[in-house]
Amino acid sequence: MTQKVALVTGAARGIGLATTALFIEQGWLVAMVDRDGDELKVAVKQFNQARPYEFDVSRPDDVDQMMEAVLADFGRVDAVVNNAGVADFRPLEQTSFADWRRIMETNLDGVFLVSQAATPALRKTKGALVNIASISGLRGSTLRVAYGTSKAAVIHLTKQQAAELGEHGIRANCVCPGPVRTKLAMAVHSPEIIAAYHDTIPLNRYGSERELAEVITFLCSEKASYVTGQVIAADGGFESTGVGLPALRS
Ligand SMILES: NC(=O)c1ccc[n+]([C@@H]2O[C@H](COP(=O)([O-])OP(=O)(O)OC[C@H]3O[C@@H](n4cnc5c(N)ncnc54)[C@H](O)[C@@H]3O)[C@@H](O)[C@H]2O)c1
Repeated sequence: MTQKVALVTGAARGIGLATTALFIEQGWLVAMVDRDGDELKVAVKQFNQARPYEFDVSRPDDVDQMMEAVLADFGRVDAVVNNAGVADFRPLEQTSFADWRRIMETNLDGVFLVSQAATPALRKTKGALVNIASISGLRGSTLRVAYGTSKAAVIHLTKQQAAELGEHGIRANCVCPGPVRTKLAMAVHSPEIIAAYHDTIPLNRYGSERELAEVITFLCSEKASYVTGQVIAADGGFESTGVGLPALRS
């Protein structure tokens, strides 16, 4: 049987690394894409079924070269997980245009570029796109003018992709993680933010990288063959909840 190939961006650590590991457990091959070459080199060593690709998803030339290299090595792509992301929490009035662009170019431009470059290969396999947005793209909150807006745009981009690519058999879905203790989150989550998250999450805890990977790989699998254009919050119930939760906890 031909092994399926997943292309995972931001695969050197965090949610992307956990997703790579789970794909491999499920019998897939993985193209691990990351711009952090040092971390990628270390990460890929633990897997026999993955290859590293040091590229920046926000740069069109990098993305073209990356796709060319992945197809030269594997000959096919069955799933693309647009997971690479950067976070920056700061007040709206202190967000420079350079800050705004730095977030948009990875979180939004990167998803657009990688998806577009992978579309011809995904047409051949009737493959799947899974874009990683965030709970910050579903709900407005302080300090996330660029990050939250980039993630809201990723949610809509996913629906555009599902609408246009469905006729080619390509599915596109979006996963919105709640808080997970990765390097990205810990760089921006102050003690106050951590406490606030606990207060508003029914499951009353952060999620794990593995819990996110389970949802992502499900959406890439045949088990989700009639699921497209969906936005799934894997967030401990954060998105569904309103005010008053801590007051009601026993
Ligand atoms: N951790 C959380 O709490 C959380 C919550 C909601 C959403 N997310 C989203 O999940 C995704 C993964 O986040 P994580 O927490 O695992 O972060 P992380 O910082 O641990 O990993 C992100 C990886 O992406 C890579 N990367 C960043 N920009 C890149 C670029 N332009 N090109 C190639 N690689 C690039 C980094 O080098 C890093 O290895 C992100 O899209 C993030 O916004 C995370």
